[in-house]
Amino acid sequence: MLFPDTYAVNRAGHMEIGGRDLLELAAEFGTPLYVYDEATLRGRIREFRDGLRAAYPGESLVLYAGKAFLSIRIARLVAEEGAGLDVVSGGELHLAERAGFPMERVSFPGNNKSAEEVGLAARLGIGALVVDSELEIDLLARLAVDHPVRATLRVSPGIKPDTHSYISTGQLDSKFGFPVETGQALATLERLLGVANADVQGVHAHIGSQIFDLSSYPAAIERILDFLVQARHRLGFTARELSVGGGVGIAYTRADDPPRPADFVRIVAAAVAEGCAARGLPLPRLLVEPGRAIAGPAGVALYTVGAIKEIPGVRTYVAVDGGMGDNIRPKLYGAVYEAFKAAAPDAEPDTTVTIAGRYCESTDILIRDARLPRVETGDVLAIPASGAYCLAMASNYNYNVRPAVVMVGGGEARLIRRRETYDDLLLTEV
Ligand code: LLP
Repeated sequence: MLFPDTYAVNRAGHMEIGGRDLLELAAEFGTPLYVYDEATLRGRIREFRDGLRAAYPGESLVLYAGKAFLSIRIARLVAEEGAGLDVVSGGELHLAERAGFPMERVSFPGNNKSAEEVGLAARLGIGALVVDSELEIDLLARLAVDHPVRATLRVSPGIKPDTHSYISTGQLDSKFGFPVETGQALATLERLLGVANADVQGVHAHIGSQIFDLSSYPAAIERILDFLVQARHRLGFTARELSVGGGVGIAYTRADDPPRPADFVRIVAAAVAEGCAARGLPLPRLLVEPGRAIAGPAGVALYTVGAIKEIPGVRTYVAVDGGMGDNIRPKLYGAVYEAFKAAAPDAEPDTTVTIAGRYCESTDILIRDARLPRVETGDVLAIPASGAYCLAMASNYNYNVRPAVVMVGGGEARLIRRRETYDDLLLTEV
């Protein structure tokens, strides 16, 4: 599960994805290069989609969380698979519009949307504005619109999942969601129901990211359904829609054993279906919003080894041509990755090296103490599980350009985003 579905070692002994030799891709497109496997992207969306259809007796929809990685080509692929799109900014919404994404399948959470963003969402007629602040309700109430804006309320169920605290969102102490346990969720729902411009569909929650222990989901769903019972009795409100967010974890190293998307949807579908039956609630349309579990395993980052610095008895630094500008996750979350030599992925690792980036900062380390076969300047290294939250969080730190992206499948490679140029870096200068 660490590599994309089409991963193979070809006759030359090189790593291959989508029928394309990674060394050839590095030569053709240059490095750093992000390679996305189309089959894995589609396969993962289908696993969520078909799993939900099989397990949930009501209507359901998978929304891809674009924050994991978005481009016009990816948005179109998501649309082709019949999935929706979760956007979190006017910029992502603008991209979705440009991609021709069906707006009724777009959802827009976010804890501090601007008036401009709320206005754009209203104008485009998106599927759901996920309301997450009093200010947003004010903005919505003031909008001049022909039709009410479809909205859901972001609630915080008070569940802290087993993941890094930086990416945990469902607990009481969080900037996201109106807490259920303090009564704020109910009070805000009442207020939202009174806004003529809002067509309130239901509720939304997202408890965190990179979750392995799926038991947090039924726990959160129980609390949300209890809240919906209250909403029904106290406000006469019946939710037609329930989003349980995303968060399914993935493998970053061969030692990781994450749940399958199919496990997640089965557990979530059962919790909602049984929980609703037990409470006499009608089945809402069930939405899930995975990002990482779709894009993460589909992407592999390629780097070329440059300078090598050996400090005898201390450490050997192997510097590559990317680093914290295209993957901040090791520094930000202590994320651990594994690297492979693209020319010999199965060669016995007999050295321990530290893979450093090219940024002018000593914290710019991609992998500490990586086990690899002997590497030399010019070798291409591949880091799997790089499809989510790497390029999406990329920066131009040190005025480095951001990498190119190719999509591979059926022996073809298509450039879906070109490498930036130095002139691109100056585009916004006035
Ligand atoms: N829905 C909402 C409302 C979210 O806030 C998120 C992620 C998702 C869905 C998708 O979660 P996923 O399925 O990808 O776990 N940059 C961090 C992850 C931040 C996630 C933020 N919200 C990382 O690199 O680990």
